[in-house]
This record gives sequence, structure tokens and C-alpha cells, in this order.
Amino acid sequence: MDRRNFVRLGVAGGVAALFAPAVANAGKSSGALSSNMAGGIYYTAANPGRWGKKINGHLPMIEKGDGQIQVITGHEMNAHSHYITKHILLDGDFNYITEVLFDPIKDKAPKSVFNTSKYNGTVYVVSHCNKHDAWVNSITL
Ligand SMILES: [Fe+2]
Repeated sequence: MDRRNFVRLGVAGGVAALFAPAVANAGKSSGALSSNMAGGIYYTAANPGRWGKKINGHLPMIEKGDGQIQVITGHEMNAHSHYITKHILLDGDFNYITEVLFDPIKDKAPKSVFNTSKYNGTVYVVSHCNKHDAWVNSITL
């Protein structure tokens, strides 16, 4: 790459960085999964986007227990070729709380349990597939 292209890309990257915060906050400002990011950046049951036939195997199913939630994604764990990489717990404002990483060799199913005793209202769970991206579901505690 010559110096001229290098400088051009650097300027373009700087401009993109100026707009990135606005883009990143666009989904958060609505405070709901109905933003226009659903179906493109992440997927939901209502907005499965290009993965319309993949809802059942990717949407995290959440069950509420006493001070905790259990999350199950009905997806295969086929070694490193196709598996759920992690479950991520977010609070009602989409702030990261914690996550559970899965080992596709050792873990037979993508199941996780999160302590939610310090939270109330809505929490979100992201289930990430190595081929079919991030899926989000929520539950009210
Ligand atoms: Fe998948």
C-alpha cells in the first residue's frame, strides 16, 4: 500500500470513528429490541433477518428460578464446526453483566445458569452461534 492510500484509509477510519458512537448508541437509545438493529446486527424471534428458518435452534430459552435464570439454546454442539460459543447476560439497559463460554468438545449442550438475585425488571440473554450470529431474548424477573 502506498503512502497516499494509507493516509486516505486513515482519514476514512477517523471519520468512521466519529460516527461510530452514534451508531453504537442508536440501538440503546430506543431501549428495546424493536430497534432497527434487530434482524441485522443481532436476531430475535420477531426479527430473525436472514436466519428466518433458524429461530428454534438459536433463540436462547430462559427459565426463571429462585434468584437465578437458566438458559438453554436448542442447538447442536458439533465440535468446532458448528456450536454455541457463549451465553451473555445483559441488564435492562443492555449493559454487560457476565457470560458463560462453552467448550464444544466438553459441553454436550449450551446450558447456563446466571445468578440474577441483584437484578429486577428485564434482563437480556445473548446466545452466540459460530455460524448464525447473535440471538437475543429477554425475561422479566
Ligand atoms: Fe447455528
